Amino acid sequence: MENNLSPVALCSDHAGYELKSIIEGYLASNGIAVKDFGTNSADSCDYPDFAHPAALAVESGECPIGIAMCGTGNGISMTLNKHQGIRAALCWAPELAKLAREHNNANVLVLPARFIDPVVALNIVDTFLSTPFEGGRHERRIEKIPAK
Ligand code: RB5
Repeated sequence: MENNLSPVALCSDHAGYELKSIIEGYLASNGIAVKDFGTNSADSCDYPDFAHPAALAVESGECPIGIAMCGTGNGISMTLNKHQGIRAALCWAPELAKLAREHNNANVLVLPARFIDPVVALNIVDTFLSTPFEGGRHERRIEKIPAK
């Protein structure tokens, strides 16, 4: 893992709360600081309430990168990607995380908490945090992503 990614912005809804806790512990054990934007329990809640503050922290540069999760990963992805400076990528396998970094310079990893094994999720996190952006032709493409 790169060590210039701290603090990693973390956020989830109730469906992602358990996985978020696992990831938080994993990052801590690897010496990576996190900023946890919640939620802080398994009580039912609304993912945009946590996704918007986390997105603002990544957009502002306060957090270089983010990791987010909800049940499917879709609602929280949709919310994060409303922010012009966010490129949130929904990944359920390490290869997707690798390509999301190499080709899309994704700055938020999104996980479908109810559909992946935690061991796979940690493997995806490792891959996301250790894969650099390739640049080149992909730079031109990501520059065209923001809506005018
Ligand atoms: C919560 O039940 C669920 O709808 C949410 O976690 C997410 O999957 C929405 O996209």
